[in-house]
Amino acid sequence: TIKSPTAASLLFWYDRHHRDLPWRVSPPMAARGIRPDPYQVWLSEVMLQQTTVPAVKAYFAKFLERWPTVRDLAAAPADDVMAAWAGLGYYARARNLKKCAEAVAAEHNGRFPDTEDRLRSLPGIGEYTAAAVAAIAFDRQATVMDGNVERVISRLYAIATPLPAAKPLMKQKVALLTPADRPGDFAQAMMDLGATICTPKRPACSLCAFNNACEALRLHDPEHFPVRTAR
Ligand code: ADE
Repeated sequence: TIKSPTAASLLFWYDRHHRDLPWRVSPPMAARGIRPDPYQVWLSEVMLQQTTVPAVKAYFAKFLERWPTVRDLAAAPADDVMAAWAGLGYYARARNLKKCAEAVAAEHNGRFPDTEDRLRSLPGIGEYTAAAVAAIAFDRQATVMDGNVERVISRLYAIATPLPAAKPLMKQKVALLTPADRPGDFAQAMMDLGATICTPKRPACSLCAFNNACEALRLHDPEHFPVRTAR
């Protein structure tokens, strides 16, 4: 019979199967209170919005080598930042990156604010980036939604409402599942599960942390979700 999904089962999976990514702090380190550098979390999340993980790795390393802190990025000539961004695409993002670095340097003493609300007030930081930085860098109970998370949650609850109308319901479901303990690892675990197990085609349900709780699997049709309006 189907069970209620729990954050604990996902975190148990994440402890064993998390991806090692350059901007990440591993679960055992996080358990000892080590947090990632908010600048590195912000930089990686902005890059990951338009580019795959393998492609981002090289750009991330190059940016950190050249501009190790947000103050360094704020002080960099805009043309240098645009040139370093070349190949990542969406150049408005690079201009916003520079603007945001300048605001953090000038108005926040070079330290990123630690709440979703105050992150939102920075140039170029929208709903996704604010939630991701709050959760991952500061272990805040923020609800982090991206395409991977939408797929996982829509399958878990067999959400029949099509995207984009279903977004508020999906966010509500993720918020209810987000734990008070380890919310940062939870957010990253949802994204890793979506990227590596709960894939768009042929998901690896036999390996999934939620396979005893997934309504779409129970219906034998995980690929049916998320539902999208015909275009
Ligand atoms: N995709 C975007 N941000 C990510 C993160 N922090 N972990 C895994 N996948 C991601």
